[in-house]
Formats: sequence, C-alpha cells, structure tokens
Amino acid sequence: MTEYGSIVFKKVTTDVEAEMLRRIRNECRLFMTRSIDFITPEQQLEWFKTASEKYDLYLAYQITHGAIIINVGYGLIHKNDDASLLTGGLLPSYRGLGIGQVLFKFLTDNCSKSKPVRLEVLKTNTKAFIVYIKLGFEVIGETDRLYFMEHKYDSPI
Ligand SMILES: CC(C)(COP(=O)(O)OP(=O)(O)OC[C@H]1O[C@@H](n2cnc3c(N)ncnc32)[C@H](O)[C@@H]1OP(=O)(O)O)[C@@H](O)C(=O)NCCC(=O)NCCS
Repeated sequence: MTEYGSIVFKKVTTDVEAEMLRRIRNECRLFMTRSIDFITPEQQLEWFKTASEKYDLYLAYQITHGAIIINVGYGLIHKNDDASLLTGGLLPSYRGLGIGQVLFKFLTDNCSKSKPVRLEVLKTNTKAFIVYIKLGFEVIGETDRLYFMEHKYDSPI
C-alpha cells in the first residue's frame, strides 16, 4: 500500500479487486475517451487474466476515522512501448473533493521514468482537465472532441 494523506493505493492482484475496479470504471464510463461500453463481470475476468502484461492497475481507498476504509476510485497505467498512458476515476459521491488530484499524482509518480507520461481527456471534461493542468500536464495535440496531454514538469503538489 502507498499512502497519500488519507488516500491509500493498492495494486490490483486478485479477481475480487478486478471486480471492484470494474464497478467503479462502469460508473466513470461516459467520461472515457475510447470505449464507453458497460463491462460485464465475465468480460472483466477474461480481460484481467492477461491485464498485468499491459497495465498497472490500482484501487484507491479513503481512510476515515483512522480505520474505516472505503474504496473510492481506480487508476490505470497503460504501459505502451513509447509512453505511459494514464486513466482513472472516482465514484460519483467522491468527486469534487480534491481526491482526483491525489489519484493522478500517484499514477504519474508510479510511471516509468524513461518514457513520456501521457493521457487523453474529453474537451467537455473540465474537472479532469483542471486536475491535469495543476499536476503539470500540457496539451500536445487535439481533435474535435479530445485533448492529448503530456506531463512536462514536476509540480509542487
Ligand atoms: C476527473 C476526476 C478524477 C477529478 O477528480 P475530482 O476529485 O473530482 O476533482 P475536483 O472536483 O477536485 O476538481 C478539480 C478542479 O476542477 C475545478 N472545477 C470543477 N468543475 C469545474 C468547472 N466546470 N469549471 C471550472 N473549474 C472546475 C474544481 O474547482 C477543482 O479545482 P480546485 O481544486 O482549484 O477547487 C473525477 O471527477 C472523476 O472521477 N470523474 C469521472 C471519471 C473521469 O472523468 N476520469 C478521467 C477520464 S480522462
């Protein structure tokens, strides 16, 4: 586990955790830049069998009252040959509290240092865009619906 304030991160290693990740990802699916399909439990288990070859997967938990641990989000690092590509999200009731910044800082910190860290965001997703700008990502390209961003410097956050 890695602790960032009251948020801790755990690598996804079991089928049960992969299912937890699926549920949160489905809650976030309309914000995704590629597939927005609903993922079934069966599809997730099949995908998870080989996922660790291509992805580092994490669950984010919030610690409240020192002990109660609640799963609030997930993060994914896609380990491409030319770059690390990030995505992730939070359950709706945990958005707007600053946790997204902690999540994407953790993901950025845990990418390979030998290649660029990139992500894609819908132009309509202002909340995510602001988090990325604050963490030091810059726009390096765009389409009519997406910004492509790359991490350019270590922000003080
Ligand atoms: C994107 C996401 C991770 C951001 O995390 P979050 O904790 O909700 O982020 P916040 O609500 O703290 O918002 C970040 C900033 O955007 C600002 N913001 C939010 N909506 C805004 C708007 N419409 N206009 C201007 N600023 C806005 C907030 O004020 C905040 O800035 P602040 O820290 O200076 O107050 C989270 O909202 C989420 O999981 N969304 C669904 C899935 C998703 O979009 N994933 C990313 C896919 S690319």
